[in-house]
This record gives sequence, C-alpha cells and structure tokens, in this order.
Amino acid sequence: MQELEKIRVLIVDDVPETCQNIRCLLNFEPRVEVIGEARNGEEAVTKAEALRPDIVLMDINMPILDGIAATEAISCGIAGCAIIIMSVQGEQEYLRQAMVAGAREYIVKPFTSDELISSIYRVYDLEQRRQVKLQGELQDTPGGEVITVFSTKGGVGKSTIAVNLGVSLSQEFGFSVAIVDLDLQFGDVAVLLNLIPRQTISDLAAEMNHLDEELLESYLVRHGSGVRVLAAPSRPEYAELVSAELVEKVIKILQDCYDYVIIDTPGLFTDSSMVALDYSQQILLILSLDLPTLKNNKLGLEALNSLNHKDKIKVVLNRSTLELGIGPEDVEMSLGVSLTAQLPSDGRVVVGAVNKGKPFVLSHPQSRVAESLRYLAREIARSNQKASKSTKKSPGLIGGLLGALTN
Ligand SMILES: Nc1ncnc2c1ncn2[C@@H]1O[C@H](COP(=O)(O)OP(=O)(O)OP(=O)(O)O)[C@@H](O)[C@H]1O
Ligand SMILES: [Mg+2]
Repeated sequence: MQELEKIRVLIVDDVPETCQNIRCLLNFEPRVEVIGEARNGEEAVTKAEALRPDIVLMDINMPILDGIAATEAISCGIAGCAIIIMSVQGEQEYLRQAMVAGAREYIVKPFTSDELISSIYRVYDLEQRRQVKLQGELQDTPGGEVITVFSTKGGVGKSTIAVNLGVSLSQEFGFSVAIVDLDLQFGDVAVLLNLIPRQTISDLAAEMNHLDEELLESYLVRHGSGVRVLAAPSRPEYAELVSAELVEKVIKILQDCYDYVIIDTPGLFTDSSMVALDYSQQILLILSLDLPTLKNNKLGLEALNSLNHKDKIKVVLNRSTLELGIGPEDVEMSLGVSLTAQLPSDGRVVVGAVNKGKPFVLSHPQSRVAESLRYLAREIARSNQKASKSTKKSPGLIGGLLGALTN
C-alpha cells in the first residue's frame, strides 16, 4: 500500500502532562509522528530549526520566550514549518497576535483527538500547496513542463491519472494546465471530464499551416477546474489525419502558454506518442500489478532507455493492493526501478467518479486515492526542472531572529 510521507510534529508546552496528553491523542494516527517536545519558546525555535517539523503545536503562555514570539521566529525563518496555536478560552487578543505572527490555525483546549488530527491535516495540506506554489513562482525560464502519461499496456489507468493530475495541479496548486489526448482512436479525456468538445485535434489538421497560439486556444475546451483540453478525434478513423508534425507544433505552442502540458497516450508506441516522449521533461510510466503488464513494461522501459528517456521516467503503480500475490517490492525488484508513487485500488471512488463525469480529486478529495494523487502531483511539481531552485534554508537565521526578539 502507498507509504505516504509522515507528518512530523513538534509539541511545545511548558506543562509536561499536556505534552503527554497530546501524544496520547495522536498515538493512533499512523501518518502523524511526534518528533520532539519543547518546554518554552526558545527551546521551540532551536528544536524547530534542528528537527524541521512539518507542524508545531504551540502553547501561548510559556516562560523565557512566549508562544507568539516563537511563532514569529519560526514562521519567518523555517520554510515548510506551519504552526498551530493551542489556547485556552479567553485568549482572543493573544490569538489575534499569534495569527499576525504567522500561525496557520488555532485550537482551543481541551480538544478532542479528531479536532486535533483534522486541524493537523488541514494545515499540513495547505502548507504543502504553498510550498509547491512557491517553487512554481521561482521559475525564471519561460515555457511549461511537458508530462507524458505512458504505458505499454492498455487499461492501466493512464487517462484516469492524466485527468486527475491535471485537475490537481490546476485547482489545488494554481498552475495553468492543458491536457492533450493523444489516444487518437479511443481517447476519453473529454468524457472523463464530462466535456463535449466542438472541435478536436483532428480538425486542427486543416489549420496546420497557420496554426498559432490564438487559433489553438479556440480548439481547447475549458473544464470548471481551469484545465484546458485538446480532445481526441470524435471518430477512430479521423486519427490518421493527425500527423506527428501537427502534434509537435501543438506541444510547442502549448508549452509556451501553460505551466504544465499533460499528454495522455494509448497503450503503445505511436508516431505521436514518440513525439510527446521526446518533448517531455517527465514521463509517468503507469503499471498495475499483473504479470502481462509487468512483462510489457519491462520491455517498454528498455525501449524508453534506448530512446534516451531514462532520466525522465517516474514509475507509478496504479491499483496497488496487497491481495494479488505480487507486491510493490516485487515490481521494484523485477523492473529494477523505484516507484515514485502508488495509487490504491478503489473502484467505488474511481469508477463512481467516472460515472459522474467528475475527477475523483474533486468528487472524493478525502479519499486515499485522491490523497495519493495529490502526493504524485507534489512530486511532479517538485521535480519540475525549471523550478529546481527550491527555497534555500539559511542556517544562521533563527539564531539571529531569536537574538533580536530576546534582546
Ligand atoms: N486506482 C484505481 N482504482 C480502481 N479503478 C481504477 C483505478 N485507476 C483506474 N481505474 C479504472 O480502470 C479502468 C481503466 O482506466 P483508464 O481508462 O484510466 O486506463 P487507460 O490506461 O487510460 O486505458 P486505455 O489504455 O484503454 O486508454 C477504468 O474503468 C478506471 O475507472
Ligand atoms: Mg486511456
């Protein structure tokens, strides 16, 4: 099953019993890990700098340095560390100050395990989105990232992943996204998004010689999430109208206009999918847990390697389950790759969403499969080559801030 990243929590409270109680409340939440405790604001800043927690649960009234000053020091100086204030009733003015100092949320003591855990997840998700967005904003080269969703086997979830990834990058992370359906005979991206395209990629063939940004835009259908779609031909026989040259031109134009161009492909190498692979900065190779798929994709991987695409490949295991006799470790062993992400098998959510014409990241945002998809979206945004200048941590900053606050 998908091993999601743990959410690392630092508890800051001067009363040891309170820390112990909070530990108990978090004890049964497998994704949350308490990595340390601090008894005052100063210790909180030092520990936050050393341990780099995702979340700090911060009391307000503490000796030496109070929770508000510590919140300010941590939120100004440690990227990716979000603070939840724990207060008692009647501390409204302190709460206001804490929020101004950079706290993300507050919870009022005494709180239940559910209240605490949902607050941690909410704040963590928000912070992850902020970090990804920040990375995107650091891009200094024009031109978007092309991502091809590929497999040498049909029916493994390529279109499902392409669509949900596009929506996730657009809606949750705020990127501009275009999806191109290069499954030219039986593409179903438009159907999965419940869109009715007036024109498709095969209609563009006639416009080949004067194709430009404005004209191409008029062929895209807009989904409510903000994603634009260039749909596959309306009939299989129109597929042959779409030349590799046209596909190349389309990708080049879209790459200039969108942060991400996601390309869905059929389960085989075609002229157009070869062009897409050439233009891609990242290739998602989708696998499922059955021997024919694994055998085919082993050959597929070899072919991709020989085409010099090795460094772009991210392997994603879809419909991961423990019930089939083959596990993720077997996949990694037999293909000699490590998996970037795993999406659990969840027919109720995935097929239910398809039948409603709604991507599951929108219809079931709390489901495990949606959570895994968001993880994949984050991994993709993180390894966006143009955003590789991620926020640098500055070692002496906290010391400096703390000094300034305590002097
Ligand atoms: N994680 C999942 N859990 C349950 N069902 C899934 C999951 N992912 C995909 N499916 C279902 O598997 C079927 C195939 O998915 P999809 O159409 O996305 O695959 P594909 O690789 O694009 O197929 P094709 O090669 O035919 O285009 C669909 O019915 C889809 O709803
Ligand atoms: Mg498909």
